[in-house]
Amino acid sequence: MGLQGRIDTAISTAIQGAQGIAPTTPSKLARALDYAVTPGGARIRPTILMSVASACGDDRPQISNAAASALELIHCASLVHDDLPCFDDAEMRRGKPSVHRAFSQPLAVLTGDSLIILAFETLARNCIAEPTRMAELISILARRSGMPDGICAGQGWESETDVDLASYHRSKTGALFIAATQMGAVAAGQDAEPWEELGARIGEAFQVADDLRDAFYSEEQLGKPVGQDDLHGRPNAVSQLGARGAMARLKDILAGAISSIPSCPGEAQLAEMVRMYAEKVTPSVPAKYAADFQA
Ligand code: IPE
Ligand code: IPE
Ligand code: MG
Ligand code: MG
Repeated sequence: MGLQGRIDTAISTAIQGAQGIAPTTPSKLARALDYAVTPGGARIRPTILMSVASACGDDRPQISNAAASALELIHCASLVHDDLPCFDDAEMRRGKPSVHRAFSQPLAVLTGDSLIILAFETLARNCIAEPTRMAELISILARRSGMPDGICAGQGWESETDVDLASYHRSKTGALFIAATQMGAVAAGQDAEPWEELGARIGEAFQVADDLRDAFYSEEQLGKPVGQDDLHGRPNAVSQLGARGAMARLKDILAGAISSIPSCPGEAQLAEMVRMYAEKVTPSVPAKYAADFQA
């Protein structure tokens, strides 16, 4: 089975476990769990995690499968909560109504909560053969999800008046990319520490690319609302650097990402993965911005 098949199978196994057996579980919440994770988006975080695990030998596939699905469950939970009216009030996600619109606000809060809990339960259930790896995976995922370094911190910046763009992006988005590279290494029995820089750089590139897409593309092209950063008055790479500056920054970060890959048996394939990723995330410049890019 390829990486995508392993990721999707691990996620659906976890979701089925959480849905329980009808009629003894609340059916709407059970359906909302599946709705929030399938069909998925790009599954970029678990793909990076699996690629790092493969580059490090992937000696325990059950553990890397669990780590990849746990990470994606946290990501999906963060999107469900992010779309709620008290955050971004977004009506669409991945081309369909957001969870609170399709179900209700209480069910969206519970869906996010349940997915977060399910992520940690998935690690606890599937990593029993390697308790040291299990403890480290739980600890990395917790650190990059909560306070002071994780998604909660990132979302928390939006309630501050003075926002440091680098800290905001690092915790809102970069955190789960650091979790991706570090959890991939730990799942394969390697040290986490050398993998932090690669995750941080990929995460920073992703956020700059996301800010560019938010400015360049339409809701139809992205399957979610656009122009959100300006609408909510949030700091973003395009407003701070201009479109051309943000694009130059994206190229710089991606070049740095390749040079920060730690030495490992699959280093060459991993560099290739980062190059493909760079091509995928770099948006094409639409006509309305073309003048900015003339020398
Ligand atoms: C969107 O992430 C949220 C951000 C951190 C900017 P993705 O673009 O990875 O979302 P999906 O999972 O592919 O829909
Ligand atoms: C979402 O960030 C990232 C989370 C940590 C939830 P955004 O609000 O910038 O991303 P989109 O545009 O809704 O995907
Ligand atoms: Mg948001
Ligand atoms: Mg949002």
